[in-house]
Amino acid sequence: MTSEANKRQPFFYDITLRDGNQSLKKPWNTYEKELIFNHLVELGIQGVEVGFAAASEMDFEACSKLASVAPDNIVISALARCVENDIIKAAESIKAANKRRIHTFIAMSPFNMEYVLNKKPLEVRKQAIEAVQFARKTIGENAQVEFSVEHFGDCGENLDFVIDTLKEIVKAGADVINLPNTVERTRPKTFVDMVERVYNELPKDIIISVHNHNDLGMATATTVESYFAGALQLECALNGLGERAGNTNLYEVAIALHNSGVETGLNLSKIYELALTISDMSGVKIYEKAPLIGPESLAHRSGIHQDGAIKTKDMQKGAYRPIHPSLIGRKDDEKLGFTSQSGKTAIFEIISEAGYPITLQEAQRIAPCAKEIAEKIGELSTKNIIDIYYKQVFNVQGAFKLCKMDKIDNENMNLHFMYHDKEYDIQVLGNGPVDACIKAIQKAGFNCELLHYEQKALNEELMGSGATAMSIMHFKAPNGQTIISRGRDENTVKANIKAIFNGLNIIENMK
Ligand code: KIV
Ligand code: ZN
Repeated sequence: MTSEANKRQPFFYDITLRDGNQSLKKPWNTYEKELIFNHLVELGIQGVEVGFAAASEMDFEACSKLASVAPDNIVISALARCVENDIIKAAESIKAANKRRIHTFIAMSPFNMEYVLNKKPLEVRKQAIEAVQFARKTIGENAQVEFSVEHFGDCGENLDFVIDTLKEIVKAGADVINLPNTVERTRPKTFVDMVERVYNELPKDIIISVHNHNDLGMATATTVESYFAGALQLECALNGLGERAGNTNLYEVAIALHNSGVETGLNLSKIYELALTISDMSGVKIYEKAPLIGPESLAHRSGIHQDGAIKTKDMQKGAYRPIHPSLIGRKDDEKLGFTSQSGKTAIFEIISEAGYPITLQEAQRIAPCAKEIAEKIGELSTKNIIDIYYKQVFNVQGAFKLCKMDKIDNENMNLHFMYHDKEYDIQVLGNGPVDACIKAIQKAGFNCELLHYEQKALNEELMGSGATAMSIMHFKAPNGQTIISRGRDENTVKANIKAIFNGLNIIENMK
């Protein structure tokens, strides 16, 4: 394929209402199918396989209903085996649609022809050609006929036979040749090479289509690469619904093509909400790690990833995400969870997000304790992290213990504290309580250099009852680093002194 050919708009053909539906524990009724169909229209889908009309009365009715409400620009298709009755029912069920298509299929893999159909290859060829001729005659010239080689992925050893048959099928009136990897036994490269061969051997006005099941989880890759090998029609399902492990997931293919610079023609911003609706209507839960739509698909737990994610949070391209979530209409942000693998960025983000004051330096100090706990209990909740934050920020344990600070008169203060087991009772003359406390500590022989301090009123509700004042102290540590410590209390003086002792312990613990 030339790079020019790569720019053509893919034709997204939805199979949620047929392949997806037939795999459900409780297939949808007409009303439910119509709801989903309306979402597909809003998504900007180009073709919809509305059902297998001969499967049941309910499916026939659903096909008829959707055909009658379909906008004129959407191809409406019904499935039929290569048997006349199926084809008649399919044509009848979609007669109200403007753009009609019959989709007929038969298996051509040696294994299936022998053990499931119990037919010789030439019998299968004859049946396929006659079915396509019949479908063409039944649906008329102004409509389309799609033919599928069921189990095409397993046709590696008889590919020449399949291609010769397809040439005759095209002459018999098929417009679209669909190549399914019905059971994903064939690896993407092999399958894509087979698709490319068919594309090269059939007339260029024939639409090549792929329909990949996801038994080994490679369907998106196979579909995307098939597009670049010549397939124009991509058969996909919402939420990847479909037989067994499902069909190719439409969202993943659309986004992968979008990321490769291909105009999909779809309203990508509808994806996320649609995924939730489909999960709800099908009863098939979204796997938490499902690409793009899984609740965990925007979560980062390793410290390195958390750091990159936060640094690129507001950018269109993120360090650790394939798209900006808004592209698919997803409003939730990348989420950070704290485990034994996480780091300071997560602590900082989680605490800030919860509305508490914190610096990156404090987050770094808290992280080891949080990691230790997470090693035992797994991911920490926000509440767990807030509890750790309280202890590690406002009640720093260490060698220094404040016992009491008393005002003797307007200028003199007495500070009673302990350093390990030794008690100190020091009286000083100070310019206010902070100055007096620092002087007393220095007088006791400890190095304590206060650079700056400030006080803030606290949101009592957030910070625990009674704590209305918070002091923030900036100390110079012996290694030259500026250390920030905090204290909180209902009394401003007490908040100051607590902040000083927390600072002393932080510096002491650095030794
Ligand atoms: O998986 C398959 O081969 C099919 C065909 C009917 C197209 O669903
Ligand atoms: Zn299928």
